[in-house]
Amino acid sequence: MSEYLTVVDHPLVLHKLSLMRDVNTPTKEFRLLLKEITLLLAYEITREMPMTTQQIETPLEVMDAPVADGETIALVSILRAGNGMLDGVLELMPNAGVGFVGLQRNEETLQPEQYYFKVPARLDERVVIAVDPMLATGNSSVAAIDLLKQAGARDIRFLCLLAAPEGIARMQEAHPDVHIVTAAVDRGLNDKGYIMPGLGDAGDRMFGTV
Ligand code: URA
Repeated sequence: MSEYLTVVDHPLVLHKLSLMRDVNTPTKEFRLLLKEITLLLAYEITREMPMTTQQIETPLEVMDAPVADGETIALVSILRAGNGMLDGVLELMPNAGVGFVGLQRNEETLQPEQYYFKVPARLDERVVIAVDPMLATGNSSVAAIDLLKQAGARDIRFLCLLAAPEGIARMQEAHPDVHIVTAAVDRGLNDKGYIMPGLGDAGDRMFGTV
């Protein structure tokens, strides 16, 4: 745990994560587990979310009650696996604006390039929560955050399910202001860039494209 990294090692999260890691867990259950864990992680990432007050009447008197200001949140999915985390966050913050960033690797330069970018307006006034289940090399996550900053985002948090130490280091170097929340930090990457022991390709497992 540190200023830039929060590992939510709650027993419920760890239990569900173990089920997700299991190669025998079917697609439908994998998706449901991802949604459930995301909800628990989102609880943590919204600990310091913007609040406002609203006057309400209790049975006894009028009070200024604290209420969450969901409209000041922008939730951004890094395609395609990030989509598996949208529902979990939206369940907690149904008024959040939703955006999408699509990146693909240029096979000549090997750098991630944008193929889709659509985000809510006034990004500079919002808390931006970027979601992608796997922080592996960090290349695409860092590139996505670059684009969000170019679009004006200033307060960005990164929500993932699993992180590799290499990805955390890369993100911290490129974007030291971005707080990472994850369920676990695994051992490291294999020579194909997969997180070990990991859970395989998150997109394939959630969309059944294995
Ligand atoms: N992306 C995945 O889906 N899985 C990994 O292990 C690494 C990147």
